[in-house]
Amino acid sequence: MENPFKYGGVVRGPYFANRRSEIKELKREMVNLNHVFLVSPRRFGKTCLLLNLIETLKHDAMACTYIDLNAFPDIRSFASALASLTTTALETNKDKLLKIFSGFQKLRPKVTVEPDGTISAGLELAVDEKDSLSALLEGMRHAEKLAGKKKKKLVVIIDEFSDLEKYNGQSIEKALRSEIQKQIHIGYIFSGSEESVMLSMIRDHKRAFYKLGRIMDLGPIERNAYANFILGWLKKGGFTINDDDLQRVFEIGNDVPYNIQRLCNVMWDYTRETKAINTALIEKLPVIIAQQDSPHYEMLWRSASQPQKMLLIALSKDQKAKPFSKEFQLKHGIGPSSSIKASFDSLVKKGILFKTLQGSYQFVDRFMPYWIDYIMKTIRDTA
Ligand SMILES: Nc1ncnc2c1ncn2[C@@H]1O[C@H](COP(=O)(O)OP(=O)(O)OP(=O)(O)O)[C@@H](O)[C@H]1O
Ligand SMILES: [Mg+2]
Repeated sequence: MENPFKYGGVVRGPYFANRRSEIKELKREMVNLNHVFLVSPRRFGKTCLLLNLIETLKHDAMACTYIDLNAFPDIRSFASALASLTTTALETNKDKLLKIFSGFQKLRPKVTVEPDGTISAGLELAVDEKDSLSALLEGMRHAEKLAGKKKKKLVVIIDEFSDLEKYNGQSIEKALRSEIQKQIHIGYIFSGSEESVMLSMIRDHKRAFYKLGRIMDLGPIERNAYANFILGWLKKGGFTINDDDLQRVFEIGNDVPYNIQRLCNVMWDYTRETKAINTALIEKLPVIIAQQDSPHYEMLWRSASQPQKMLLIALSKDQKAKPFSKEFQLKHGIGPSSSIKASFDSLVKKGILFKTLQGSYQFVDRFMPYWIDYIMKTIRDTA
């Protein structure tokens, strides 16, 4: 039987754990064509949730468009994608689609022959680069008109929304807001993991998205439901685990879905033969993962300066400590506070740490402290 605990990509169908209440809530918001900002730290499962939500919405005959802003480096490509994807979501007839595409003023049809010989149609900018914002607005107006004509509700999901800042900043935000406010057939979900950026976009009264919709904080998957999902698969595979050991998996993974999937994936592989999961193995899981990902951590490690490495070592031992306290600095021989602050800023920029909304610093990757601990032990043992 194949390992059912998938990680790294989008999990669907039987591999997707719970999230029933979140899907129900988002569905209700979208049936009412509201605007929702979905916010969580990284790897909590926003993208998986949204793509599974789309299946449910389509099942209820709603038209859906999913756009990941990461994939569109400029407004020009975003505008073309938004217009073509919203139109395609509302019109499935190929001939009608091409006719609609040729009716755009600022965009023109682009027909591509796929490697398997099928023909697909999209849009590209037909005007100067500087007019790409007006092309975006033309696409949005068109989507609203078409949804009205088709008497359909359209849901537009924009993932990695905090990336919007990479375009031309505030003018696109203002233009988008005013267009969205005029629409009555389209519901929106804006999703992002840069919590501070997302929240300042929505909560700052000087910003365009101020109070445009409600904020939905995505938390971890409810533990009991997630535990039942895991137990169900383990039972199917003929594995046994006791409840304390399973709870320990959630503790080690900090309840973050990516971490839990990763831990369960390794747990399944390592006990494939014996089918007996025990406490000793559970405690070893994060170390195994740290070793598997070693090349990645080595690269990050090499990018850090000596004082930054010292700080990472200290933080990996004392993850809940207050790093600006005298006690922490004396204990680990680091400081002063001003240089610690500079190290933190740099480590956040390098993607090794992130700053929580409460102002503390944590490892982006839950398993990196285990790797640091492992290399420190290796150095000690060989010294
Ligand atoms: N409901 C779920 N059931 C099982 N696994 C899940 C679920 N949600 C998330 N995961 C696991 O977590 C991983 C990360 O999920 P996802 O990419 O959706 O997170 P994200 O919040 O969009 O992250 P990012 O902010 O980095 O884009 C998935 O690859 C999968 O392994
Ligand atoms: Mg995502």
